[in-house]
Amino acid sequence: MSKRIAIITGATGGIGREFTRLLVEEDIDEVWTVARNEKKLEEVKKLYGEKVIPLAKDLTHTEEICEIEEKIKRENAEVLYLVNNAGMAKMGSYQEFSIQELENTIDLNCKAPVILSNLCIPYMKKGSHILNISSASAFQPNPYINLYAASKAFERSYSRALNVEVENLGIIVTAVCPSWVDTEMLIKERNGKKVKFPGIVTAEAVAKQAMKDAKKGKDMSICSFYVKCQHVNVKLMPQKLTMKLWMHGLKKYL
Ligand SMILES: NC(=O)c1ccc[n+]([C@@H]2O[C@H](COP(=O)([O-])OP(=O)(O)OC[C@H]3O[C@@H](n4cnc5c(N)ncnc54)[C@H](OP(=O)(O)O)[C@@H]3O)[C@@H](O)[C@H]2O)c1
Repeated sequence: MSKRIAIITGATGGIGREFTRLLVEEDIDEVWTVARNEKKLEEVKKLYGEKVIPLAKDLTHTEEICEIEEKIKRENAEVLYLVNNAGMAKMGSYQEFSIQELENTIDLNCKAPVILSNLCIPYMKKGSHILNISSASAFQPNPYINLYAASKAFERSYSRALNVEVENLGIIVTAVCPSWVDTEMLIKERNGKKVKFPGIVTAEAVAKQAMKDAKKGKDMSICSFYVKCQHVNVKLMPQKLTMKLWMHGLKKYL
């Protein structure tokens, strides 16, 4: 019988750790946790036990993504869950980004989930899940996190379309769209000012709701009333106006 596994990228970060915690509780043989920092990966294994199999990979490198598929094949594994969670974000004007940072953001937030999904689908069966961690930033263009927001819009659109394509295989793809989540990703201060994050939620709340929604077969997961309102607002308002409101909240930090 094949080994039943879950794969979580960015498993050492705030949201990824929560997914790891929830997935080790499932009827799964191994939870493969992916990130670059080996020490942090070992800490996650210590926290959540023997089911956790750390894989140190840099997902901006295509060959390292392919090594994950090679391991699945070698070990005759069945992928029950793929959580494409690793992501990077930086706030700032377009001029503040190096070419390397621009490339890495696109590679990690867009290229990696697409390649990993394509590589894992042949090892999935009816009832398997892909969860792609997008963001509420996907709902509208967001100046000063323009690339991040665009990458998350890509991820959401890709996930929802893929969900339709794999429906006949019984695989469910869910785009997870949280707003601010209390993790290391959020900058605490900019230009000497403490940054405020309205509607901020815990990583635990995001992961719990995402698992619940995925099991219900939803193609999108929104975890709070605040984000539900945001989602409705952006559908009703012209994008020029939503960007004006965004800039109003941001101007004191620029
Ligand atoms: N926090 C928020 O407010 C928020 C809101 C909406 C959506 N999200 C999305 O949620 C996801 C998780 O965010 P988070 O807040 O939990 O972030 P986080 O705490 O900063 O964790 C990021 C994770 O990604 C890994 N990672 C970064 N670069 C990588 C690379 N090149 N290759 C492999 N792994 C890499 C990190 O580990 P290493 O550094 O060791 O590689 C870490 O495990 C992201 O996709 C993010 O865009 C976050």
